[in-house]
Amino acid sequence: TPSPTAAPERRPFSRVTPEDMAFFSKIIPGRTITDPDILEASNMDWLKSVRGFSEVLLRPQTTEEVSQILGYCNSRNLAVSPQGGNTGLVGGSVPVYDEIILSTALMNNILNFDSVSGILSCQAGCVLESLSLYLEDKDYIMPLDLGAKGSCHIGGNVATNAGGLRLLRYGSLRGTVLGLEVVLADGRVLDCLATLRKDNTGYDLKQLFIGSEGTLGVITAVTILCPRKPKAVNVAFLGCESFEQLLQTFQLCRGMLGEILSAFEFLDRECMRLLNTHLKLANPITDCPFYIVIETSGSNPTHDEEKLHQFLEEAMTSSQVIDGTVATEEAKIKALWSLRERVTEALTHDGFTYKYDISLPVERIYQLVTDMREHLGDRAKSVVGYGHVGDGNLHLNITSPTKDPNLLASIEPFVYEWTARFQGSISAEHGLGLKKRNYIYYSKATRCTYGSFYVNNCACSFPQRDP
Ligand code: FAD
Ligand code: MLT
Ligand code: ZN
Repeated sequence: TPSPTAAPERRPFSRVTPEDMAFFSKIIPGRTITDPDILEASNMDWLKSVRGFSEVLLRPQTTEEVSQILGYCNSRNLAVSPQGGNTGLVGGSVPVYDEIILSTALMNNILNFDSVSGILSCQAGCVLESLSLYLEDKDYIMPLDLGAKGSCHIGGNVATNAGGLRLLRYGSLRGTVLGLEVVLADGRVLDCLATLRKDNTGYDLKQLFIGSEGTLGVITAVTILCPRKPKAVNVAFLGCESFEQLLQTFQLCRGMLGEILSAFEFLDRECMRLLNTHLKLANPITDCPFYIVIETSGSNPTHDEEKLHQFLEEAMTSSQVIDGTVATEEAKIKALWSLRERVTEALTHDGFTYKYDISLPVERIYQLVTDMREHLGDRAKSVVGYGHVGDGNLHLNITSPTKDPNLLASIEPFVYEWTARFQGSISAEHGLGLKKRNYIYYSKATRCTYGSFYVNNCACSFPQRDP
């Protein structure tokens, strides 16, 4: 059964009957899945930390089918859990009880691409990496990139307002998503699938659905503004003696690389240890307490390399950076990026992972890792920090050999109280899902008078008041 601390009660939804199954089979013949092996995978989250007990997985192909399914479920009071690539990290992508799983896996058609404006329209189930490959041929790229690109869906990305590795350069999905098509819970189709960069005709309804994590409807199609593929890409992997030096390097980098800077990411020595131990990835530079991945993307290779080298020279002479390596060709760029992107995977081999995704003023982000290490002492197996420095986003991860309720009680609410003290956010980019829903009030000051927090899945209709 779900963890009592995290899970809401099962509300009085109906249970799926043979008549319901007959209806679904008529609407989507051959795509109403009850195979226990397939359901096992769809009921379990990527981290293998929460699981649901759904006995039905539906795979519609069109908006019309989604509309008919949701309209029917609404009339029958059947609960539905929308699912994209099931790579979510907060336990929101799987059912809690026996909700019907509605998957976008077969909604994977590209609808249109305008090669003059760079505007792409596609169904919500397109895998992010497939979209990137499609665009690459056309000299464009997706404005977002994540370690989960091989599995996550663009609809899931929008539903979680995913950040990732390119946010520093291209901004959040709140800016790049131009339009959405959404099916509401009662089956009505909301067509906000605009393909215009500018549209000030009233409220921007699509914004409500960006980051709504499936609570307001199912996103069925997306239009998104894509940048041109940069002609020159360089990646530098650098080492620093302290987090303060890392921040100085960030300042210097912003000043000297300016418009060509496309990513500034970090990982600590503990992350490197896990990469070495569990994935056999070698450190390409001297052992250091902190590592930085800097990416530049521009249109003139000579100009970009010159700028990057001037920056590196300055960073080395001023001793902000103690060692580093640079890549300009694709294979080495990929290898350097994997040291940052594969930390998540390395952690899964270290043990059960407690994951925190925190926004803070950038100068504070590593202090939380240091304080947590001191607070936990030897009760945790590993306490690691990595993340998106350019966005003030820390990923604090703590592992233990197995799931450990005592360790969890030492981490929470300590981590949330710490974050609230510095006006941070307890979810920078992963969302609330099941795991963070009860802690929203550390970042948002709204609570219902009934005492339960007004968040994801809270159907309580009691009036709101400040805490
Ligand atoms: P799912 O996991 O299937 O679902 C996530 C949530 O969205 C659920 O609440 C679900 O109900 C809802 N949902 C899914 N599809 C729809 C839809 N069509 N309509 C309405 N609701 C829907 N996240 C980041 O922000 N930045 C990162 O850098 C990043 N890196 C990652 C790296 C790895 C290795 C992994 C495993 C995950 C990473 N994530 C990252 C988290 C995750 O990949 C993102 O949250 C992603 O956007 C989820 O997409 P998905 O298709 O897998 O959605
Ligand atoms: C990342 O930045 O690597 C992702 O958000 C995944 C994670 O937090 O592990
Ligand atoms: Zn991240």
